[in-house]
Amino acid sequence: MMRIVLLGAPGSGKGTQAQRLQAKYGVPQVSSGDLLRDAVARGTELGLKAKATMDAGQLVSDDVVLGLIRERLGRPDAANGFILDGYPRNAQQATALNALLEEIHQPLDAVLLLDVRRQTLIGRLAGRRVCPKCGKVFSITNLPPGSICDNGLDHPALIQRPDDKEDVIAKRLEVYEAQTRPLIEHYSRLGLLTTVAGEGELNDVFARMETAALGGTPKGVKKSAKASAPAKKPAAKVAVKKKAPAKKTAEKPAVKKKPAAKKKAVKKPKKKAPKRAPRKKPAKKK
Ligand code: AP5
Repeated sequence: MMRIVLLGAPGSGKGTQAQRLQAKYGVPQVSSGDLLRDAVARGTELGLKAKATMDAGQLVSDDVVLGLIRERLGRPDAANGFILDGYPRNAQQATALNALLEEIHQPLDAVLLLDVRRQTLIGRLAGRRVCPKCGKVFSITNLPPGSICDNGLDHPALIQRPDDKEDVIAKRLEVYEAQTRPLIEHYSRLGLLTTVAGEGELNDVFARMETAALGGTPKGVKKSAKASAPAKKPAAKVAVKKKAPAKKTAEKPAVKKKPAAKKKAVKKPKKKAPKRAPRKKPAKKK
C-alpha cells in the first residue's frame, strides 16, 4: 500500500519518478497533467476548454481537475494505493483532496517534495521530450535511438510539450511559487512532508524517493492527516538528502563549499623572563 502525493515545481521530476515507482510497486501514477493532456488529445469538451489554459501555463479550474481525479481514484487499480503527481496544486485542491480521501477511506501516507533549483528546472523543461502516444518522458541529454519512444515499435517520434516553451516555462514557475509552494507549509504542519533532494542521477533520486515513500513516515501520521491544522504542530521531517554523485549526470549538482578549516591556534612558547641578577643592596650610609 502506498498513498502518496508528489509535490514539486514543474520539471522537478515528479512524472519521471512516479513512473518508476509505478513500475516497481504496481501502484498507479495519477497525474492531473496527463489526465488533462489525454482529454485534450481526445478532443473532449473538457479538453478543448482546458487546452488554452494549459498552453498559457495557468492552472485549470479546481472543479474540472477534481472531477478527473475523483474518477481516476475510483478505478479498481487505485484501490490499493496511488501516486498523485501534480495534484493538489493550491490550497483549495488540498482541502478538496482531503475530503475526497476521507470519503473513500484512503488517507495519505506521505507527501514527498522534490527539491530542485530553479536553474536546473528551466534546463530540464527546455530539454524535455515526450512520447505523444504513451506519455513516456525523455531528456535531450539521453534520447532513445532515432528520437523514437522505446515503449513500443509503433510509437511515434518524440515531441516537445507546447507548454515547455521558454515564456510558458516562466509563467508555470511563477504560478508554482504563488499557488503551490504554500502547500509545503501546509503538509509540513500535518507532519506528512518529506523533502527529497531532486538533483543528481535518476537512480539516486529514485532511491531517496523509495526511502521516503516506504520508510520515512512516522507512526500515527495518518490520524493527523486532516485539512484543519492539528492542535499540536508536528515538526516537518528531516530531508532525505544524500550527497549527489560527482560524475555520470548531465546536471551539475549543487556544489557545497566546504567550510574553511579552522586554523589551529598555534601556541607560542611563553617567553621566559630573563633571570635578573639579584640587586645588590645599596650599602647603608654610615
Ligand atoms: P503537469 O503535467 O502536472 O506539469 P508540471 O507540474 O508543470 O510538471 P512537469 O510535468 O512539467 O514536470 P515533472 O515534475 O513531472 O518533471 P518530469 O519528470 O517530466 O501540468 C501541466 C499543466 O496542466 C499545468 O500547467 C496546468 O495547466 C494543468 N494542470 C495539471 N495539474 C493541474 C492541477 N492540479 N490543477 C490545475 N491545473 C493543472 O521531468 C522533467 C525533465 O527532466 C524530463 O526531461 C526528465 O527526463 C528530466 N529529469 C527528471 N529527473 C531528472 C534527473 N534527476 N536528472 C536529469 N534529468 C531529469
